[in-house]
Amino acid sequence: MQEGIQPKKWSCESRNNSYCNSSNQQICGGWQENSKKGDFLKAERAAKSAGMSKQNYTIMHLDLASLDSVRQFVDRYKRSGRPLDVLVCNAAVYQPTAKEPSFTAEGFELSVGTNHLGHFLLSRLLLDDLKQSDYPSKRLIIVGSITGNTNTLAGNVPPKANLGDLRGLAGGLNGLNSSTMIDGGEFDGAKAYKDSKVCNMLTMQEFHRRFHEESGITFASLYPGCIATTGLFREHIPLFRLLFPPFQKYIIKGFVSEDEAGKRLAQVVSDPSLTKSGVYWSWNQNSASFENQLSPEASDEEKARKIWELSEKLVGLA
Ligand SMILES: NC(=O)c1ccc[n+]([C@@H]2O[C@H](COP(=O)([O-])OP(=O)(O)OC[C@H]3O[C@@H](n4cnc5c(N)ncnc54)[C@H](OP(=O)(O)O)[C@@H]3O)[C@@H](O)[C@H]2O)c1
Repeated sequence: MQEGIQPKKWSCESRNNSYCNSSNQQICGGWQENSKKGDFLKAERAAKSAGMSKQNYTIMHLDLASLDSVRQFVDRYKRSGRPLDVLVCNAAVYQPTAKEPSFTAEGFELSVGTNHLGHFLLSRLLLDDLKQSDYPSKRLIIVGSITGNTNTLAGNVPPKANLGDLRGLAGGLNGLNSSTMIDGGEFDGAKAYKDSKVCNMLTMQEFHRRFHEESGITFASLYPGCIATTGLFREHIPLFRLLFPPFQKYIIKGFVSEDEAGKRLAQVVSDPSLTKSGVYWSWNQNSASFENQLSPEASDEEKARKIWELSEKLVGLA
């Protein structure tokens, strides 16, 4: 990012009252730098390529790397008077080659600040809107990852996710009076992403424990598969970006297309058979969904509770 240029993210809210943030082909979003209109059009293009007609979506500004932006987005959404039936938290940043940490507007390490704290505040502020919706199958969904699960082969590729005793999170992840990493260790961009995904999966379970019974909302996370062609890998070295898709396709045989991943996400959002709350969905080789096991850390209730409480303080809710 160039100095003085503030990224501005755009999200899309469709008329069936679900809201999501992403720019993959199934869901739309985009970004804008300063007021360059051309970048805003990214969201428009994504909606168009997904075949959404103009009256069925609204594009709204949201930068998850700024808590102010999250609050402004929520205010605008609430003022719009629209009900909220489903909230999908799909955005993520991944900085596998970063040598130095980057930071959100409030000074949190960027990956955990965006992927976890941004989504945490968004979900918390919109929870009441979900509760108030009279839609019979209300859902709050977050995209997790196999890479945060150390009970899998992929989750054992170093650096492994590990939240430790949360001392870095407790200190604010700012690199000044605390580490930029949740476990208090040295900055590692790939690990920060994996740690953020563990937080995402733990957060959904904590939402489930706190609010499912009283609200009937389905809280779930998912691993849509390895979608080696998405923008997530934009900061990886060019050779990796070139070789990773064929490696996944022909050697690992774990390649999932963006279309297929979008269908999987759509299933978790709207399929009547996937309404179980507090679970983590995955798909087998035949693209059949199943409830997957999380790693011990990604299902640690005590850690989930502590992350919830620390995150509340960091985002100004406690
Ligand atoms: N690709 C995979 O193999 C894989 C595997 C497991 C899980 N996932 C998860 O799937 C989800 C979607 O990732 P993807 O693979 O589709 O990658 P992607 O194409 O890069 O999508 C990520 C989205 O997040 C948005 N975003 C980034 N920073 C943001 C911010 N500060 N505010 C608002 N939006 C922001 C990006 O917007 P811009 O493009 O406009 O910057 C982009 O639309 C992520 O949660 C990821 O962790 C992906």
